[in-house]
Amino acid sequence: MKVTFNEEVKISKYIYGQFAEHLGRCIYEGLYVGEDNTNIKQVNGMRQDVVEALKRIKVPVLRWPGGCFADEYHWKDGVGPKEERKNMVNSNWGGVSENNYFGTHEFFELSRQLECEVYVNGNVGSGTIQEMQEWVEYITMEGESPMSNLRRENGRDDAWSMKFFGVGNESWGCGGNMRAEYYSDLYRRYQTYVRQYGDEKIYKIACGPNDDDYHWMEVLMKNSSQFFDGISLHHYSTTGAWEFKGPATNFSEDQWYSLIDSAQEMDELITKHSKIMDKYDPDKRIGLIVDEWGTWFAEHPCLKAGVLFQQNTIRDAMVAAVTFNIFHKHADRVHMANIAQMVNVLQAMILTQDEKMVLTPTYHVFDLYKHHQDAIHVMTDDVKEDQLTYTVTKKNDNFSLSVCNYSLTEEKELSIELPKSQINFINNQMIVGEHMDDHNTFEDSEAITLQGFTKFKVNGNVITMTVPPMAVVTLTENKKV
Ligand code: AHR
Repeated sequence: MKVTFNEEVKISKYIYGQFAEHLGRCIYEGLYVGEDNTNIKQVNGMRQDVVEALKRIKVPVLRWPGGCFADEYHWKDGVGPKEERKNMVNSNWGGVSENNYFGTHEFFELSRQLECEVYVNGNVGSGTIQEMQEWVEYITMEGESPMSNLRRENGRDDAWSMKFFGVGNESWGCGGNMRAEYYSDLYRRYQTYVRQYGDEKIYKIACGPNDDDYHWMEVLMKNSSQFFDGISLHHYSTTGAWEFKGPATNFSEDQWYSLIDSAQEMDELITKHSKIMDKYDPDKRIGLIVDEWGTWFAEHPCLKAGVLFQQNTIRDAMVAAVTFNIFHKHADRVHMANIAQMVNVLQAMILTQDEKMVLTPTYHVFDLYKHHQDAIHVMTDDVKEDQLTYTVTKKNDNFSLSVCNYSLTEEKELSIELPKSQINFINNQMIVGEHMDDHNTFEDSEAITLQGFTKFKVNGNVITMTVPPMAVVTLTENKKV
């Protein structure tokens, strides 16, 4: 077994971050149903069934407003009285009309309700420096200024806390089709005006590469890294070539394994990008921010194109666990990650239909893994041939162990020795599939849900366990999170 130890490295809770874009039914219907809605319980427009469920998985940070949408978003269209807000065409996502009812104030209200930090993604592709500078001023300026006065006129006296700010999204693609050489200069210029108005330092994130574009990483690190705290990486897991993506359900065994292979590419991507980053940043000051990851399947033929709604099966749960274990291994470099996306889009935590809501298998993996947020990494084993991956962390000397057996057929025996004299696991749960595309529906919302796990023995510091196929298990000494 090849086990990675990087003891004393803290796994940032931000690795368990989320992403919500103006895309399909993520924001509208999924999170925001309007202040006048009387059919769905809402507070200030935010649907409470979804908010409450998300609070249970301890969302640490939320990225908004995109994605590709970010580089077409003009924030001033989304503040002030709703009836005066400008309509726009969401040209990236189905050409639908966007009424801007969910804007800056609503985003900060959602984050307040979720009790999470914010990651705002600025517009470089079609915006101006002045627009970006004014947005930062509007959000964070406490004293008198044109933008803080405008914020007050719009009903908010205090500045908000904004921890993370992204300077453009996919600037190599939907964010402007730029070359690395050009964007790296543009980044330097734009970030200058992401001013720090308050005491809180804004963590600035540059647009990084897509997948294995190592040239982009090299150029950005060489030319501009002194001006950023983090650089993004996007990687989606698919089956088949991008243009011929496989389906979310009713897939073959080959597609089960090829999706997991695609998720496992994250390890190589992080390793190789980190190597480039190490050259310019050997002390690892700069974070690799995997601000878009997850599964991306063929759009369902019955749905309108561009809404990216997809079902979420026990196979997606495997992808989530495999990916988290990879992030744990690289916790010294990966400072944040944001799964795409929170509700109703791509690998979502939650699916909604009118007043109904279901939690997906991916949601349950986030729930199982919440014990690892801000914990110290002890060890991770993710040897592909075993079809098994596990990770161990500790918090205040309480150990947590998560195991994913992604074999379709084989139960796995596992024995692990932990660096503690006596282990006392008290909170032990799993999700498990019976069939490879098991999933929750609005008719049967508990087909996949957490259940107790008992097939383990502890002898001092040695744990032996039997993990069923298609399962993710967490054993923990933590009473609660
Ligand atoms: O998450 C969906 C889209 O994927 C985002 O808008 C974009 O950044 C990426 O290509």
